[in-house]
Amino acid sequence: MSDRAWVWRALACPRCHGRLVPAQNLVRCERCGPYPLLGEVAVLVPDPAGWCATFYDAILSTLAEYGAASREAVHVVQAFAQGSHEPARFGDDWTEFERRGEAPPAPVKGPAHATLLSLEALARTDGPAAFVERHVPSCELAVEVGCGAGHRSELLSQRARHLVVGDWSLRAVMQGQVRANRALSAVAPVVMDAAALPLVSGAADLLVAENVVDVLDEPLAFLEGVRRALKKKGRALVTTPDPSLGSGDDAALASLVARARLKLVERVDGLPWLRTNSPRHLEAYLVQALAMRRQA
Ligand SMILES: C[S@@+](CC[C@H](N)C(=O)[O-])C[C@H]1O[C@@H](n2cnc3c(N)ncnc32)[C@H](O)[C@@H]1O
Ligand SMILES: [Zn+2]
Repeated sequence: MSDRAWVWRALACPRCHGRLVPAQNLVRCERCGPYPLLGEVAVLVPDPAGWCATFYDAILSTLAEYGAASREAVHVVQAFAQGSHEPARFGDDWTEFERRGEAPPAPVKGPAHATLLSLEALARTDGPAAFVERHVPSCELAVEVGCGAGHRSELLSQRARHLVVGDWSLRAVMQGQVRANRALSAVAPVVMDAAALPLVSGAADLLVAENVVDVLDEPLAFLEGVRRALKKKGRALVTTPDPSLGSGDDAALASLVARARLKLVERVDGLPWLRTNSPRHLEAYLVQALAMRRQA
């Protein structure tokens, strides 16, 4: 990643938003110090030592899973974790079909079969995916925050010349990187905290965060960071199955958007999203989707 100038024009220190300089196995902010570079993945979180210590076992097993457990990467994780570690897992939230990028199996035949098939068809044509697809422009730099299994990374790599795939989970970042089409787009995988986006101010044309804002402790800090990171006419797409953000008041998200001084371009609600865990286990959500612009 270190030879790709665009990456270091787009990424910034998550603490001071200052410039980052890549060195071997590290990325350095002159003011705040070093961040790990694990192969191609930059770990740009406000407390990189805490992240390495907390997820130590999960980081090493993820690196091994994706064939990236080089001696240097393991050494960097050990050095940042400073000997202490807890066996915390990444909060990965995806079905096996989402991970493999495969169409889910049809539901078991019975009285609900036809209804579920028509709901699946509706989710394809009028669900959150269609909303996002409609709003994603061809652009220079897109950032996917909370990429999860990366089911949108492929679309974004088709529309953006440069794509940052980001998540708090290293496994999700690896997964997003696999799903993005690197033949079409240059991809930078970054471990990040949505509440402290490691992006240069005014750098991004597009920021997409699907089903993330509702799991954050600091959704306002995230939206303020989105505004800061967007170009003047940049666009942000946010979807969530819980616009109340845990408060019970569905107006909560829109009111935070206004407080963050993002201009709401379109808000639609009740978009069907069907998640198939198995032919007998389906989850249905009704999603709110927001398209926003940075106000000049
Ligand atoms: C419900 S999943 C959504 C994944 C994907 N966007 C989708 O729609 O299927 C939420 C994702 O947000 C990530 N996440 C949770 N907290 C985060 C944070 N503070 N910063 C960045 N990503 C975070 C999780 O690791 C997870 O991948
Ligand atoms: Zn800094």
